[in-house]
Amino acid sequence: MSLGLVTAGESHGPALVAVLSGLPAGLTVDRARIEDDLRRRRAGYGRSPRQKLEHDEVEVVAGLRHGVTLGTPLALLIRNKDHANWMWGMSPWPPEGEPAGKGASPVTLPRPGHADLAGALKFGHADVRNALERASARQTAVHVAAGAVAKALLGEIGVSVAGGVVEVGGEVDEEGWKQATEAARGDRDTLGGIVEVVANGAPPGLGSYADKGDRLDARLAAALMGIQAVKGVEIGAGFALARMRGSEAHDEIEPGFRRVTNRAGGIEGGVTNGEPVVIRAAMKPLPTLMRPLRSVDLASGDPGEALVERSDVQAVEALAVVAEAAVAWELARAAQEKFGGDALSDFVASHAAYLERISWHEDR
Ligand SMILES: Cc1cc2nc3c(=O)[nH]c(=O)nc-3n(C[C@H](O)[C@H](O)[C@H](O)COP(=O)(O)O)c2cc1C
Repeated sequence: MSLGLVTAGESHGPALVAVLSGLPAGLTVDRARIEDDLRRRRAGYGRSPRQKLEHDEVEVVAGLRHGVTLGTPLALLIRNKDHANWMWGMSPWPPEGEPAGKGASPVTLPRPGHADLAGALKFGHADVRNALERASARQTAVHVAAGAVAKALLGEIGVSVAGGVVEVGGEVDEEGWKQATEAARGDRDTLGGIVEVVANGAPPGLGSYADKGDRLDARLAAALMGIQAVKGVEIGAGFALARMRGSEAHDEIEPGFRRVTNRAGGIEGGVTNGEPVVIRAAMKPLPTLMRPLRSVDLASGDPGEALVERSDVQAVEALAVVAEAAVAWELARAAQEKFGGDALSDFVASHAAYLERISWHEDR
């Protein structure tokens, strides 16, 4: 069975939920590891005060017994602490009493660059909040939790996945990131950046060239483009390959089927080739500006200034964690397709038998 992931939850609703299906039985899920990744997602320079409010404790509602998967759907839940301030505004049921707290007045001034206008028009919402609450990247918290589970599964076959920041606001070192962030904060503006995810230990043969939907490069690109604010993805040397000659671009094959270079980023023909998988994502500047951009009121049609709501100056470090989770999930899905198994031991044994067949050893 292929791995499946369904999530739900609004930014200021009661909770976020994720249902993970297709996991083998017998996988140990470490609560501290999930919460460590959730902590990493909340951290980072330039994030809004909301990150201090949310503790992101993960509750498991189904699929786990004594810390070990049962081979049944695994249901995770993260409560939004901030919901306490939005009880009337984000009440799932018709609210009782007079409008009170946050979200009580409708939002009618869509933010350029956010899902506000497109979402309100598409679904027929008079209150933009009905679109922005789900479009918000708050939901990435449960994706990070799912990614932590995926990393545990991958760890069983020696695959590790790690994400990091490459650039913030065009700056390439940490000091520069902080200065650029503070300058943008001072100007009441926002920044974007670039992150990189590297997966080590993936065996050759994950993904396939058989059809476009099977190609691991396409799947990883979709996984990263599925994250809010990601507007570009490159694998290996990516766009730079377009300016090279074939003799400069391709990674020559050495005895033992290893490569000295890895400009392909570990994927050829949509299939892992045994080298580290290297993939980058470009994040646009965040759309909520404290110095709002021009907009038009949905109700009156009059020009106005876009919604200003508590927001990050930049969230590139958070994106690195979310991107790591997305890549881990997609790699775990590809590994589960290749090695299968209802029990974790089947999955591990199938991986070992495959490495034996192709005579592939990490220390060769
Ligand atoms: C980790 C993370 C945090 C984000 N935080 C914010 C934020 O605080 N304010 C904001 O306006 N956008 C934020 N975004 C981006 C918006 O969610 C995103 O731009 C919006 O949903 C529109 O989608 P699009 O940019 O993919 O078109 C964040 C994105 C990520 C991945």
